[in-house]
Amino acid sequence: MIAFGRPLRRRFMLEPGTAFLNHGSFGTAPRAVLGAADRWRRRMEANPDRFMREQLPGALRRAAARLAGFLGVGEKDLAFVDNATAGVNAVLRSLALRPGDEILATTHTYNAVRQTMRHVCGRTGAKLVEARIDLPVEDVAGLFLPVAEKMNRRTKLVVLDHIASPTGLIFPVRRLAALARARGARVLVDGAHAPGQLELDIASLGADWYTGNCHKWLFAPKGSGFLWARSSAQAGLHPPVISHGYGRGFAAEFDWTGTRDFSAWLAVPDALDFFLAMKPSRIRAYNHRLATEAAQRIADAWGTPLDGPPQLHGSMMAIRLPQSLQRSDPNQLMTEWAARHRLVVAVMAVGGALWARISAQAYNAPGDYQRLAALARGRSGAP
Ligand SMILES: Cc1ncc(COP(=O)(O)O)c(C=O)c1O
Repeated sequence: MIAFGRPLRRRFMLEPGTAFLNHGSFGTAPRAVLGAADRWRRRMEANPDRFMREQLPGALRRAAARLAGFLGVGEKDLAFVDNATAGVNAVLRSLALRPGDEILATTHTYNAVRQTMRHVCGRTGAKLVEARIDLPVEDVAGLFLPVAEKMNRRTKLVVLDHIASPTGLIFPVRRLAALARARGARVLVDGAHAPGQLELDIASLGADWYTGNCHKWLFAPKGSGFLWARSSAQAGLHPPVISHGYGRGFAAEFDWTGTRDFSAWLAVPDALDFFLAMKPSRIRAYNHRLATEAAQRIADAWGTPLDGPPQLHGSMMAIRLPQSLQRSDPNQLMTEWAARHRLVVAVMAVGGALWARISAQAYNAPGDYQRLAALARGRSGAP
C-alpha cells in the first residue's frame, strides 16, 4: 500500500515547494482520477449524440448507485449536483415558507449557505435565526446546546453543518436532528466536508436532506456534489435549474438540468476506488493525528488557543492567530502568505478574531506545517 506524505503527493498535481495546508476549501484530485474523467470526456466528444442519449443515463445511475452504497443510502434517493452550494439551494428554494416561520442555522454556517437562507427569507417573510457558537468550544455540549436552545414551534427548518467550515468542528447532527424532528422541524445537513472525512451512514442520521461534496475529501474532480433526500422529503423538491425531467421524479429532475460536462460525476467511482485502495480508516487516522498534532504545535508556538478539543475534529482544526497577525481582511493575509512564504492555509474571521484553519490530507506530512508555526516568531509577525 502506498506510503502517505511525500510519496503520495507525487500522485497529485500540487506545485512543488508550496506548503499546501488547505485541502478543505476545494480539495485536489489525483492524476489517476483526473485521467478517468478525461476518458469520459473523450467518449462524450467522440459522439455526443450517442453518449448523451444512449450511454449517459445508465452510466450516471451506475455512478450514483456506487456512491449511494458508499454513503449508506438508496440509489433512487441520491442525485449528483455540482456542489454543496447547489444542494443547499435546491432544498432551500423548494421550501414553502411563510411569514413567521424560522430557519435555524448557526454563526458558523458557511456564508454561501447563509446568503441563500437570506434570499429565501427575503422572498417568503420567514426569519433566519442563528445560534451563536463561541470559540473555543469545550466539549460537544458547546455545539449542541446553543442550537437546541433556539428551536421553537416556529422553527420549520434546521440547517446543520456536519463539519463546520471555519474550524472543522464536528457537530452532533444525529442528536440535533432527532431533537428538531421531535419538535416538528425538518432538517437539512450540509455535509460539504463530511464524505471521506467521516464514516457516513446518511440514512441513519435522521435528516430529511443531506448534501455533500465528493471533490473535497473523496478525491473526485471539482463539480461533483450530491444531494440525498429521504423518500418522504422528495415531493416538491426541485433542482435550482428546471429542465426536461420536471415532474418525473427526484432522480430524473436532477440527472438532467441541461447540457453540461458530466465527466466529474462519472469519475466519482474512480475517486472511490482511489480512496478505498488507501483504506478509509487508515486515511482518517493519519489525517486526524496530523491535523490535531500540528495544530497543537502551532498553538504552542503562537501562544493562542485551539478552537476546541481534538476529539471534536476530523482532518481540520483551527488556531487563533496571535495579535501580531490579526488583520481586518483574512483574504489579504492569505494572499500575502501565499506570495511571501508559499504557504496556503485558510484564514477566517470567527467572533471578531482571525483563525487559521489547517487541513491534513494523506499527501501532507508533519514538516508541511513548520512555516505556519514559524510565522509569529518575529515581533511584527513577519519572520
Ligand atoms: C460547510 C460548507 N458548506 C458548503 C460549502 C460549499 O462548498 P461548494 O463550494 O463545493 O459548494 C463549503 C465549502 O467549503 C462548506 O465548508
